Amino acid sequence: ASGSHVPALVIGTGYGGSVAALRLAQAGVDVHMVEMGMSWDTPGSDGKIFANTKSPDDRSFWLRTRTKQPLSNFLGFPIDKNVNKYTGILDAEEFGGITVYQGRGVGGGSLVNGGMAVTPQRDRFSGILPSVDAAEMYSTYYPRANAGLGVTDVPLAWWESAACYKYARVGRKHAERSGFPHVFVPNVYDWDYMAQEAAGSVTKSALAGEVIFGNNHGKKTLPKTYLAQAKATGRVAISPLHEVTSVTPRSGGGYTVAIRQLSTTGGTVATKTVTADRVFFAAGSVGTSKLLVKLRATGALPNLNGEVGKGWGDNGNVMCGRANHMWDATGTIQSSMPSTGIDNWGAGGAFAEVAPIPTGIETYASLYLSITNTPRRAEFSWNAATGGVDLSWQAAWKQDSITMAKTIFDKINKKEGTIYRTDFFGGTKVWNDQLTYHPLGGAVLNKATDNYGRLRGYAGLYVIDGSLIPGNTSVNPFVTITALAERNIEKIITTDL
Ligand code: FDA
Repeated sequence: ASGSHVPALVIGTGYGGSVAALRLAQAGVDVHMVEMGMSWDTPGSDGKIFANTKSPDDRSFWLRTRTKQPLSNFLGFPIDKNVNKYTGILDAEEFGGITVYQGRGVGGGSLVNGGMAVTPQRDRFSGILPSVDAAEMYSTYYPRANAGLGVTDVPLAWWESAACYKYARVGRKHAERSGFPHVFVPNVYDWDYMAQEAAGSVTKSALAGEVIFGNNHGKKTLPKTYLAQAKATGRVAISPLHEVTSVTPRSGGGYTVAIRQLSTTGGTVATKTVTADRVFFAAGSVGTSKLLVKLRATGALPNLNGEVGKGWGDNGNVMCGRANHMWDATGTIQSSMPSTGIDNWGAGGAFAEVAPIPTGIETYASLYLSITNTPRRAEFSWNAATGGVDLSWQAAWKQDSITMAKTIFDKINKKEGTIYRTDFFGGTKVWNDQLTYHPLGGAVLNKATDNYGRLRGYAGLYVIDGSLIPGNTSVNPFVTITALAERNIEKIITTDL
């Protein structure tokens, strides 16, 4: 309620926020989590909480009147359609040079992502976060994160014959025939549930193509893991459809936090202020960066340093499809949870996930989301004229990532005698180079913050999400975000509380 006081306020309920809430609560601290998205615990008129990937509806997108599908075309035909403006689950947030996809709701990105739970190779970690003790990360915090998230390995014997992973086995064959290391990727999806989906004994979710607009079954999202544990402590409250708009120091200590309550069409239902001893920014790379840049520029937090807003990257994301020969059919039923990747990071700067095309028909296509080692980094800045935050990303920068991804797919195409598909991204585009699923950075560890996420200039303010990571993780990011949050919150609890 407006006017109330909380010991710890957490902005956002994604990975960083969920780790902070659980560990603070276990240490005896009462926590209030503020989440701009919905709680996603009530079925719609179709009896399901989440819409299907194939049939987006009002629930699918955050406050848009037209869908913005990552694969804008199917067999060459544009598939975007009009929807009603609603606080839906997937935000396609548009900046000048890039569209940044993010989850909205209690659970953040865990609601919409592919569940790929990848720990980066240890020898690559110090290039990502040089000020962090890698030995500690790999002995303590990565294992803790993987356990907390419910990460498990692909059941290999089942996978080898499962129809829903035919596309991945085709991906492996092509990778190996071109001499690339092929790797299995752990996931947070319940593999037993998926096997039952394949056997026809339970309601299908991954095998019904559910993913970017939510999974109705099978995926161990944060509300089923960290947030369930956090709630069970009795010390954590969550306010959905509430957006933090300001944080300012309060005379006498602590902070005043301004909050806007949203209607499901995005309007303002009420504005509230609460006070908190400590505030954890866990609004995601874009959400946290936008807030901090605005608060520094508008005088609410003027002592934030010049590093705030810097070091933002797209994890080098680019997508492409390849046209297979008729003998390399990829299957009509494809699990929406990717299980494999092609690792050419060392030689070519690219790690490619073998992605599904869960359309229900045979496409003879292989789709890949590449993560590449691009050095490009953008900066968020306050735009006084628009009253918004801009991002300096340049669309042309994606060429670096395309060049790196091509070290894999040009070679495979040559070996297989195949070509790129041109019917997925509009026109005759081969590369989807206009988006990222993996925003990272903007409040980089040991620069905008100290080496544990304490914001420089303000005692009691912390960053604990993907904005700490400077633009790239060499693999899919959420395990690293979670592990770093586990490391930082442990230090904060033992030394600051
Ligand atoms: P995260 O974005 O999860 O959470 C931030 C939360 O804060 C959101 O719920 C947001 O609504 C809320 N918020 C923002 N501003 C706010 C404000 N002012 N007030 C209140 N609340 C606010 N990664 C991976 O490792 N494997 C994968 O398979 C995939 N796949 C994938 C698919 C798709 C479609 C997407 C969009 C993303 C992925 N990812 C992924 C990326 C992964 O989901 C992402 O890196 C993490 O969710 C980021 O975690 P954070 O804790 O940083 O923020």
